[in-house]
Amino acid sequence: MAATPPPPAADRGSRLMLGIETSCDETAAAVVRDGRTVLSNVIASQHDLHAEYGGVVPEIASRAHAERLLPVVRAAVAQASIVLSDIGAVAVGNRPGLIGSLLVGVSGAKALAWSLGVPLVGVDHVQAHLYAAFLRDAADLVEPAMPASDVFPALGLVVSGGHTSIYRVESPVRMSRLGGTIDDALGEAFDKVGAILGLPFPGGPAVDKTAATGKDRAFDFPVSRLAKGSLDFSFSGLKTAVRYAVEGVPGSEAPAPARTPAFVADICASFQRAAVRAVLLKLDAAWSVATADGAPAYRALIIGGGVSANSRLRRECLAFASSRRVPALLPSMPLCVDNAAMIAGLGYAILADRGGVSDDLGLTAHATASTRPPAA
Ligand code: KG4
Ligand code: ZN
Repeated sequence: MAATPPPPAADRGSRLMLGIETSCDETAAAVVRDGRTVLSNVIASQHDLHAEYGGVVPEIASRAHAERLLPVVRAAVAQASIVLSDIGAVAVGNRPGLIGSLLVGVSGAKALAWSLGVPLVGVDHVQAHLYAAFLRDAADLVEPAMPASDVFPALGLVVSGGHTSIYRVESPVRMSRLGGTIDDALGEAFDKVGAILGLPFPGGPAVDKTAATGKDRAFDFPVSRLAKGSLDFSFSGLKTAVRYAVEGVPGSEAPAPARTPAFVADICASFQRAAVRAVLLKLDAAWSVATADGAPAYRALIIGGGVSANSRLRRECLAFASSRRVPALLPSMPLCVDNAAMIAGLGYAILADRGGVSDDLGLTAHATASTRPPAA
């Protein structure tokens, strides 16, 4: 059988997007084809550099990004089995995040796009987390179709170390925020509970793993609802309740309980149950508001962000969607946490949406802005 000739270089290039992500403590680069298929996804985590401080130190993070960005980009290009000149466009997470960290990625992306003569696109990191569920690994045998338009509008949930928000998602590039946390992000609450228990940093994966052997009703931790009808979250009360259960209530004569492995597992399981319940209550409220007129207003549930790797949250989201007879779109595990494939994917969708128009080299980083600056 005759081999199919490879497509011309120009065509190959226009389909290949390089993504760059440096918003927090992961230096990441990825190559994604057609906004869909992940050809490489390289993540250099800085967890070891920040572990001794119990949190991300911004100055250390930006210095490490500057040292690692080019090796990570080179590795992403090599692992995709392409050369740099095959790249058709460069996408970079330029908001929100640590400003010094974002600037490293934005500067690198601008230099690459300029030197390659290809379009540049700045991407919102939080929106990109919701795109992760549409990506497929190149190793997947069956390549599914692009996000079917029939999953929109979808109810979107982003749960990460810095964000906890619910969205009405009209398309991969258009969404409106319905509610979010008024204090800690969900991942931050997991990390703080991990720190209270002396688990490895970041606490989320460790709490998830430890919870597997605990009793989830051993402690009756509070589930915050805030005002009736509110779609906002609060996790600080839950975190304080965990602290009191572990360290004892301030001013009380009672000694703190012994931290046996069973005690620690019960705390993790009970915390995780309460935290996930708080999220599901709000998803339910958002769904009810939208369907008050009797019509199913959402056609899918999409989740993303580091905490979407949580085993209990995944299970309960799948059950939530299934009971409403809609699909739940969950990212694959490597694409839950910060990565550049989601940046490349959303960058491709944005470029397609605006007819290939590039951001100009005045593109800059925004620490908190979640609205998109106008395209050039
Ligand atoms: O999305 P991400 O990598 O970074 C931000 O954009 O913030 O999310 C990181 C967060 C951390 O708080 C981490 O503890 C949490 O995601 N996380 C988890 C799990 N895996 C990561 N939380 C709970 N269960 C997990 N399995
Ligand atoms: Zn993130």
